[in-house]
Amino acid sequence: MKYDKTILITGGAGFIGSHVVRLMVTKYPNYRIVNFDKLTYAGNLKNLEDVENESNYTFVKGDICDRSKLKEVFEELEVTDVIHLAAESHVDRSIEGPMEFVMTNVVGTVNLLQQAKDSWTDGDHVFHHVSTDEVYGSLGDEGLFEETTAYDPRSPYSASKASSDHFVKAFYHTYGLPIKMSNCSNNYGSHHFPEKLIPLMINNIVHKKPLPVYGKGENIRDWLWVVDHASAIETIFHNGRIGESYNVGGLNEWTNIDLVKYLCQLMDRKLGREEGESEQLITYVKDRAGHDMRYAIDATKLENELNWRPSVTFEEGLELTVDWYLENAEWIEEITSGSYREYYESMYTNR
Ligand code: NAD
Ligand code: DAU
Repeated sequence: MKYDKTILITGGAGFIGSHVVRLMVTKYPNYRIVNFDKLTYAGNLKNLEDVENESNYTFVKGDICDRSKLKEVFEELEVTDVIHLAAESHVDRSIEGPMEFVMTNVVGTVNLLQQAKDSWTDGDHVFHHVSTDEVYGSLGDEGLFEETTAYDPRSPYSASKASSDHFVKAFYHTYGLPIKMSNCSNNYGSHHFPEKLIPLMINNIVHKKPLPVYGKGENIRDWLWVVDHASAIETIFHNGRIGESYNVGGLNEWTNIDLVKYLCQLMDRKLGREEGESEQLITYVKDRAGHDMRYAIDATKLENELNWRPSVTFEEGLELTVDWYLENAEWIEEITSGSYREYYESMYTNR
């Protein structure tokens, strides 16, 4: 079959990537979707079991730092577009070891940009770079991140993502590479690796383990359902303007402690536990170094220009998420039985 586009989705076996792959494979049978993923600890092909046999889906195991592999895939599969999600994504791991973040997030992104530039000498193409609101730094009590907010990254993770964003823009200005960029707030949903706040808390509540809240739990995050992030990426990829960035978020700010308490109440109901039982598991632990206080996104540009809106409220999305984890206990058991245990012990024992 002749496809209208061949889209290379990097990091398609990860949390957000698997939702983007699923959406594109099922909604666009006229596109060939190539999932290019190194399968690090965060990549899991089980995230894509429901689409792996679709004829327009292909998986290629590869590292975006490996230029010859990228060249081979671009040439053999005639890649026309890129949606770039592959990254090291966890702030705490970046504090323990920044170099892996430099390699994948900076060097890997530049490698991919170079390959796209060299392969796309004519025709219509899009290189969509998926980034984060963390590049803007940390907010005080007031204000929202806008696309024009100056970059002020403060963790090794956000510094590496900010660097990759600058390279993406540099390739647009210098070489005319047709880029688009999106900067999204915190995602939550199914298939989320349990090193991140929400799935970690869900897993610990299920197992009646301590719920480690950093510092006083007063830091604020702006949460968006991952399926809505995937639909924003789909919208920007198709209709966003070349050379532009779009902020993605749902105006949904929560302090960490309020969120954890809400999750405890929801799960006590779902698990048939006494009201207030899970809240007793909350344990305040040593704060994250350089912990950004508040993130909050102004997504007006995306809403007004491209008519995108989140499809669920936070309460609805969180309930769907908790239900998924309760119904897919084997997914999380498999992940948490391996090297995750060592990670958890090194991060949380005697914290
Ligand atoms: P994740 O850690 O769940 O998944 C990352 C994926 O990238 C994994 O499948 C992994 O195997 C793959 N990968 C890592 N290094 C690679 C390499 N060198 N070559 C090829 N593949 C590699 O991450 P996520 O949470 O799904 O985030 C995806 C993207 O979205 C990242 O770029 C992240 O910065 C961005 N983002 C995440 C959030 C969030 O809340 N999770 C919010 C905004 C933006
Ligand atoms: O804002 C977008 C970013 O959101 C993405 O770019 C990152 O890839 C993604 O990991 C996420 O970063 P955060 O650092 O905000 O997410 P995390 O889930 O690690 O932490 C959310 C908040 O919860 C943060 O304030 C730290 C706190 N926390 C986290 C963990 C893991 C705790 O209090 N306890 C914990 O055990």
